[in-house]
Amino acid sequence: PASYPFEGEHQQGILTPAQASSAFISFDVTAASRGELADLMHTLTERSRFLTAGGSPASVGITAPPSDSGVLGPQVVADGLTITTSVGASLFDARFGLASKKPSKLRAMEDFPNDSLDRARCDGDLLLQICAHNSDTVIHAVRDIARATRGAMQVRWRQDGFVSPPRPSGTPRNLMGFKDGTSNPDVSDAAEMSDLVWADAGEPAWAAGGTYHVVRAIRMLVEFWDRVNLHEQESMIGRRRDSGAPLSASGEFDDPHYELDPTGESVSLGAHVRAANPRTPESASSRMLRRAYNYSGGLDSNGNLDMGLIFVTFNQDLERQFVTVQKRLADEPLVDYIKPFGGGYFYALPGVTDSGDWLASGLL
Ligand code: HEM
Repeated sequence: PASYPFEGEHQQGILTPAQASSAFISFDVTAASRGELADLMHTLTERSRFLTAGGSPASVGITAPPSDSGVLGPQVVADGLTITTSVGASLFDARFGLASKKPSKLRAMEDFPNDSLDRARCDGDLLLQICAHNSDTVIHAVRDIARATRGAMQVRWRQDGFVSPPRPSGTPRNLMGFKDGTSNPDVSDAAEMSDLVWADAGEPAWAAGGTYHVVRAIRMLVEFWDRVNLHEQESMIGRRRDSGAPLSASGEFDDPHYELDPTGESVSLGAHVRAANPRTPESASSRMLRRAYNYSGGLDSNGNLDMGLIFVTFNQDLERQFVTVQKRLADEPLVDYIKPFGGGYFYALPGVTDSGDWLASGLL
């Protein structure tokens, strides 16, 4: 669609199909009081409401700097823009007196075995996930929001992403060449979303309609990966590179029927997809909605390609879903080819329900 409605029970950018372009930007809030934090949230609401709908920028006459950068032309286009605002555990420290309202599982992201986390590229008080059909729309929104919020928050880290078009069809591919996103819960199934994504009764009342928003910036060691033969690549993932089909079936969306292969003859027990989701009755509640992006950041200081995956998942329960699955993946063969270096745990705020409502109104 050309635009997604900004108002609703839940924020956009969660169940929304991934647009082609994205930016994940984490901020440290510099607002000095709870009142200033509320002002920041009002500003974020107002800018997001305008940018995601598009329209004519406010006229300020000819002697003041223009209200809009003009990057998208005289009319701001919506271009499928979604801006999803999430908060990190550090927002609930002593500064704003919010400690008692923290979502029950929210915390700084821990190091998992095989992680190489750069703490300067982790966590933050506030995360904006900005997605649109075109990258100039994302950049325009980033610039607009940065300008409007300068006095109240500062960028901590940023990772920009993109989605490849599906080739030849089906699901888009990640930068290892494999289809990524094939096995995902059905976002049109409200019952499934309420079991897997939206806050349950264990969360504070203000948090209803929100969800845990996990971001993991994972470098892929592509030079190394490209020297591995196809058979071995497919065994590590557990799916075929060309079609995305499970190694035990023929179509991308076929059931892999692990129960017919208890010893891992066709799909090894440690293959990424099987370890991530063994498809047993006991593992069903750890399923998660993923919404990943590829990133390519040029070269590192040694001249190696800096590219990989911005792994994104929305969870009802951080512990029961992401953390459980990440632990199951601790020693998968893929760990030799990837390097998680950044990201964090955040809580996507409930939606803005009507024109008088604003982001975090229930919290603040
Ligand atoms: C599935 C790649 C990181 C959880 C997949 C698939 C691929 C893939 C190719 C199969 C297609 C699909 O169903 O989407 C990767 C790569 C990663 C990565 C290259 C790192 C660079 C992670 C992480 C997690 C995760 C960090 C969670 C902790 C899953 C899950 C599935 C999956 C739950 C679906 C399994 C199923 O239901 O069959 N991944 N993944 N992945 N991945 Fe990953």
